Amino acid sequence: MILLRRCRGHGRVWPVTQAFPPSLEISVIDRRNIDLWFQIGPKPAKAQAARNRVLANISSNTPHNVVRLVAHQGFETYARIATEIDSRGRFQVWPPVFADTLSMCHKKNLAGLILNRTLELFSEVEIKYSETRFLESHPAASVWLDAVVADRFEFTAAAAILTHRRSATTRKSSIARSITGGGHFTETDLLDLYLACQTDTMDRADNDPLIDLRADMAEFLDPAEPSADRTIWLVATEGDKPIGLLIPQIDRETRSGWIAYVGVTKSHRGKRVGTALIERCLADHDVPGLQFKAMVDLINDPSIKLHRSSGFADTFDRFITYRKPWSRAADDSAAAAPI
Ligand SMILES: CC(C)(COP(=O)(O)OP(=O)(O)OC[C@H]1O[C@@H](n2cnc3c(N)ncnc32)[C@H](O)[C@@H]1OP(=O)(O)O)[C@@H](O)C(=O)NCCC(=O)NCCS
Repeated sequence: MILLRRCRGHGRVWPVTQAFPPSLEISVIDRRNIDLWFQIGPKPAKAQAARNRVLANISSNTPHNVVRLVAHQGFETYARIATEIDSRGRFQVWPPVFADTLSMCHKKNLAGLILNRTLELFSEVEIKYSETRFLESHPAASVWLDAVVADRFEFTAAAAILTHRRSATTRKSSIARSITGGGHFTETDLLDLYLACQTDTMDRADNDPLIDLRADMAEFLDPAEPSADRTIWLVATEGDKPIGLLIPQIDRETRSGWIAYVGVTKSHRGKRVGTALIERCLADHDVPGLQFKAMVDLINDPSIKLHRSSGFADTFDRFITYRKPWSRAADDSAAAAPI
């Protein structure tokens, strides 16, 4: 059946079939072909091999199973999507990048299909929940949000992106605190400190039973992550006792630095330990052109205040997270629904 649908904001009437495209395929794409996706379309034989490789990686617990997918119909490509399955059973899906030629109507129509097919593709993998986390300024944000909400994903968290203003004046007085490089500590010491800094926080970890702090730490130390070099981590100490931790993440290619984590043990909060850690981090990486950023949960008032008072300003850009617990029954019924 052909429908005529008016697209808001376009002022044009598009003839669209109810099921556009009639059949959508999702293939895994070899990393080398990324730049050519829209030119060459998928190669199904290679796709099957790549998908099998990904499934083998997942069952052997290999970290960073980023899976790149392309939505196509035959050799006509519509969108590309990146997903990741991690060791804690999270299936992450990022918003698709649509082909430029697609109208807004077609993008809306495709987004739900892509989501459905993508989840279906990995239906045999043990997954705890699917999650999508993206910047509100992402070009496909509104289209994607409509699709995930329709698929019963629920709002989980919002985080603010803050950037450090170089012109900001900071209080040099606090820098006198004793701060040591993370290289002097074992991974176990750092994990213990990280766990101790998580007591009674306003952070999501307190409210979210699905957050696994040990897995968080393993991710920070993962050699594939820019945070892996723990010699640049900072540990605040009182006597021999570690009381605060800052994990920086420096990406020299994009000249960006992130405060990936900052925390202080409960008994030492409110004594400018957090401020001292941030000041020291900024001083250690005072490289021209390098800008520090931080992503902070909006509900974490102490952390927002700490960053603001250390010279970080709100960019008004937000990361939002939507999540859906994995339910095979629900997915089976969704997969069976006609498209
Ligand atoms: C966020 C955190 C690191 C702050 O460290 P801290 O050493 O207590 O902070 P400081 O003493 O240096 O205070 C810095 C500023 O934040 C304010 N602040 C700190 N804790 C606050 C609180 N609970 N409520 C309101 N303001 C607070 C201080 O008043 C100060 O502001 P000012 O400079 O205008 O006076 C600490 O609360 C913490 O470890 N929380 C748990 C872990 C966490 O959530 N980390 C953030 C993850 S990104």
